[in-house]
Amino acid sequence: MAEVGVAYGDFSRKIIDSMNPSKFYAIDIFASGPGEDFWGRTDWADLNIGQKEFIERKFANEIGNGKFILKKGLSWDVLETFDDNYFDYVYLDAAHDYDSVKKDIRVLLNKVKNNGIIQFNDYTLYDWSTNAPYGVVRAVDEMLVSGKHEIIFFCLQTGGFNDIVVKIKK
Ligand SMILES: C[S@@+](CC[C@H](N)C(=O)[O-])C[C@H]1O[C@@H](n2cnc3c(N)ncnc32)[C@H](O)[C@@H]1O
Repeated sequence: MAEVGVAYGDFSRKIIDSMNPSKFYAIDIFASGPGEDFWGRTDWADLNIGQKEFIERKFANEIGNGKFILKKGLSWDVLETFDDNYFDYVYLDAAHDYDSVKKDIRVLLNKVKNNGIIQFNDYTLYDWSTNAPYGVVRAVDEMLVSGKHEIIFFCLQTGGFNDIVVKIKK
């Protein structure tokens, strides 16, 4: 499986502990250097390291046993490097503008297996906390109108940052 957009690895930890995937690919631009934390947090500033090193330390055990693999780069470029029909499950939570999500979806439809699952985080039109429009709804809905794929869960979040979970049909 892959988590696309890892940030502090909070959800990576939940996924690994609850699902125990045979391989977990952590894909992110890892652009934040020392002191460049976001969301008002100071996790890696406190350690005087950057985001990538923070994740490497946090998941040192899993990296050591070969289960956790970091991939640094733009999501659609990194995803393109995998074989077609590779992933059972992808949690997509990287860039949230329409063009980026559209590019991620275009690649993912090749890389996820038939009956594989994509979980789209932040399936919402607007981020009220940063005053930013989100393109996730439009990009995902354009994928869904084919009628081919199956919505299996809709996960409500109190701030409206909901998830939609889709089983991909080929
Ligand atoms: C919303 S956070 C991810 C939160 C994480 N999934 C969680 O639940 O704990 C978004 C992350 O995506 C990364 N990101 C943003 N745009 C990206 C892109 N185009 N390609 C790869 N990573 C990206 C950012 O560096 C950031 O770490």
